[in-house]
Amino acid sequence: MNPEYPSGCKVNLVLNILGKRADGFHELETLMLPVNLCDTLQFEPLGQGGVAMTCSDPTLPTDSRNLVVRAATSFFAAAMIPEGVRIHLEKRIPMAAGLGGGSGNAATTLLGLNNLFGSPLSQEKLHQLAAALGSDIPFFLQKRPALAKGRGEIIEPLDPFASLKGAALVLIHPGFGISTPWAYQQLARFPEALNGRAGRAAEAARLFATGDIASACKGLYNSLEAPALDKYPILALFQEFLRKRGAVGALMSGSGSTTFAITASVREGDDLAGAFREKFGETNWIEVVPC
Ligand code: C5P
Repeated sequence: MNPEYPSGCKVNLVLNILGKRADGFHELETLMLPVNLCDTLQFEPLGQGGVAMTCSDPTLPTDSRNLVVRAATSFFAAAMIPEGVRIHLEKRIPMAAGLGGGSGNAATTLLGLNNLFGSPLSQEKLHQLAAALGSDIPFFLQKRPALAKGRGEIIEPLDPFASLKGAALVLIHPGFGISTPWAYQQLARFPEALNGRAGRAAEAARLFATGDIASACKGLYNSLEAPALDKYPILALFQEFLRKRGAVGALMSGSGSTTFAITASVREGDDLAGAFREKFGETNWIEVVPC
């Protein structure tokens, strides 16, 4: 049996867009928190070249449209290794959810293959490959909370946040996804959200590191809520309900569609998840995860 590599996800405590760049991407600053809700990946070396992928979720393509296959292909090209690999992905993290599950899978593939084949690539090279595959992927090469800048690929790792000790996240996926390119394109209709005030992410990082959880959560902010909550007002209702029922903070993660609530303890998170299910029914996907 090949070892299983856990592949986690994230929420954005702050996602502050600073403007559109000449290359079509958006300049941003974001405060990212790793979330210990994991898919798992297994790698088995193949005698010959090539990447053969299988996945527990039959709706996910397993050809070069999949970031895992693209990550593996770029690893073999950069490492100049003539071998190949069989990869199996067990999917638990919802997709098109703003949780970075696919980005995490790509980063875990780069790290896993580098480990399997005797570390032919440096950390710097892995970072370069990750950034070329997607803006969120370099974050997942490390395990700490981080401030990210540029288009998301410039990472400054931070110490675990003191204010979140013992706290929990309630993650709620509404059963529909939101396309990331769509959310960014729609920002053109919301000039205030498109041109955020720089500094929000670093301010929030200081609050989460030193302050109490309630004052830290006042810094939660996501520019992409402007288009997403305009199109899907149910997501605004979710947040209103979560705050009213005791969440210290609630926000959409990434480009959506996942909403997360922060509670002071796992027990409060479980209670809040129960109240949410009672109000909005069983069709939403809900997980309570310790911070
Ligand atoms: O980098 P990634 O492939 O994850 O980005 C997906 C899409 O999200 C990009 O094609 C772009 O439309 C949008 N995006 C952006 N600015 C960023 C990150 C992503 O406009 N900083």
